[in-house]
Amino acid sequence: MKRACLLAASLALAATFPRAAAPTITIDASTPAGKVSPLLYGLMTEEINHAYDGGLYAELIRNRAFLDAGAAPAHWSAVHGDGAAAAIALDPGQPLNAAIPTSVRLDVTQAAAGHRAGIANEGYWGIPVRPKTRYRASFFAKAAPGFTGPITAAIESEDGTTTFATGRVSGVTQAWKQYDVTLTTAGLAPTAKARFVLTVDRPATIWFSLVSLFPPTYRNQANGFRPDVLQMLIDMRPKFLRFPGGNYLEGDQIADRFEWKKTLGPLSERPGHMAPWGYRSTDGLGLHEFLLWAEDMNAEPLLGVYAGYSLKGAFVKPGPDLEPYVQDALDEIEYVIGPASSKWGSARAKAGHPAPFKLTYVEVGNEDFFDRSGSYDQRFVQFNTAIKARYPQLQVISTVGFEHPENQRVRSVRPEVVDEHYYRTVESFLKARGQYDKYDRKGPRIFVGEWGAYETPFEPWNPRSRGEAPTPNMRAAIGDAAWMTEMERNADLIIMHCYAPLLVNVNPGARQWRPNLIGYDALRVYGSPSYHAIKLFATHVGDELLKASATDTDVQVSVTRDSRSRMLYVKLVNPGAAAAPVQIDVSGAALRPTATALTLAADPQATNSIDAPEQVVPVTSQVTGVKSGFTYTVPAHGIVVLMLGMQ
Ligand code: AHR
Repeated sequence: MKRACLLAASLALAATFPRAAAPTITIDASTPAGKVSPLLYGLMTEEINHAYDGGLYAELIRNRAFLDAGAAPAHWSAVHGDGAAAAIALDPGQPLNAAIPTSVRLDVTQAAAGHRAGIANEGYWGIPVRPKTRYRASFFAKAAPGFTGPITAAIESEDGTTTFATGRVSGVTQAWKQYDVTLTTAGLAPTAKARFVLTVDRPATIWFSLVSLFPPTYRNQANGFRPDVLQMLIDMRPKFLRFPGGNYLEGDQIADRFEWKKTLGPLSERPGHMAPWGYRSTDGLGLHEFLLWAEDMNAEPLLGVYAGYSLKGAFVKPGPDLEPYVQDALDEIEYVIGPASSKWGSARAKAGHPAPFKLTYVEVGNEDFFDRSGSYDQRFVQFNTAIKARYPQLQVISTVGFEHPENQRVRSVRPEVVDEHYYRTVESFLKARGQYDKYDRKGPRIFVGEWGAYETPFEPWNPRSRGEAPTPNMRAAIGDAAWMTEMERNADLIIMHCYAPLLVNVNPGARQWRPNLIGYDALRVYGSPSYHAIKLFATHVGDELLKASATDTDVQVSVTRDSRSRMLYVKLVNPGAAAAPVQIDVSGAALRPTATALTLAADPQATNSIDAPEQVVPVTSQVTGVKSGFTYTVPAHGIVVLMLGMQ
């Protein structure tokens, strides 16, 4: 009875008062409010969460150089079935060379045809086996007198009962030599429950080093990338790639920094190094591969150079002590953009890339606000002076932005660009609207070099966050999208930005951080809702910034335009639980009557995962009746890119 009365009363009210007009979004299309930086959307990367080893870098053998070891070589085991006996042990007494100062020794004391013995590698959480696929295996080997082969290389089931692909080499001698063998699978059901083995069928003592197995790579590049993971990145159409970190640039200690010179050349000359995220990097994805990766994406490198500070607090005093590091950075830049006739340009040419790469920005260090010694100001000056003297065309980025107190920032010179990092809760990003309005337009340009919204109670670096899903849910995507509208509204100032971290291997134990943008295991890859949100934004930008304002609504908006196609990109983010109608007023342009809406909307808890990769994906729809003052309803928990054509 009470309910019926209330309903009657509200119907009466609706009849008496006209419905309130929808909140208005006003867009001024008469003149652009600024230029959108051509590099606005990009990617940030480092070796974290097995981003490269066990990720983008296609190598399938884990601990290929036997340098991860306690008493026994990690991820390797001896193979010896019925009627065979064998043992394996590290043998630093038989190094491959100075860069790889160890090997594994296989002692087969009993073996015969049908009773093999050897070594097995478990891969990075399995070995991906696909049908009708060619794998390239290689290894260094030498044997004690009396054994010349053959050695069988095979990809097989974890228990060794099913062989997926096999090949043989012979002519093994008592000196180190590299052997190559191609393994081709037949038609089969894909699986990652597989291992790689090297076996013999007679007693022998053999040493192995640098054992490698590559599946087909992107464009079949040698030492290349996983095509499926790289394609996800290419699809985002990034304009730059920030590398090599992040903390990975700095290392825990100075000796653990990213020493780019040690990441060049044949894999047998790359020792790898201990990375700050708790595991060793092979450096198979080294400086040259970073540059090729950027080129594969049609993106330009944004090079981070080591600046004399490492994570555990050690720093190099500015002045003469820092000079070798400055020189190292100059050499590195020469590798990237020097002519093929220069010392480091010729090393690049020798590696197969005579033409210089593109480079506009160099970042000096990473998060140097952690350096409590106060040395960054002078360290930056020293790098900046040297880089600008030799390469006046380059823009140099300071790692301390305006989100840090003035006394931590660079004060002795005015950096051209400063890098700001924001790992924030969804709520904090929703409240960030207007943050950049306060920035001095005459000051440095802003690079938001790392950002990401987290939706769980745990900060991304908190180990407890590892109990949560590796990638974020729709709620986080809403926070990310709201933050992107703030950065896009200020695209005259914020010349570049990139989410971090980019990649995560979703297997237990593989991750050090959450949330992350793209997840994968050995066989599969998927994008989080945030991935789809960023891709929507990044692939619909244009070159002009338009002034837009929203009144009386929580819907957040940014508007850009492509001056050539005369398309307006109106980005709308509705964090609310109810659909939000908005009236869109456009002045200074007549609109075409039909538009396209790209929509990502879902329950805030909805997410994608390795087993359910497409729960939250964008949908495309047509919008009719478009004209200035039309009403568009942004779905609840929705992110929309409205593409409005100008007549
Ligand atoms: O993105 C993860 C880490 O966060 C980066 O390595 C570091 O720069 C930041 O603190």
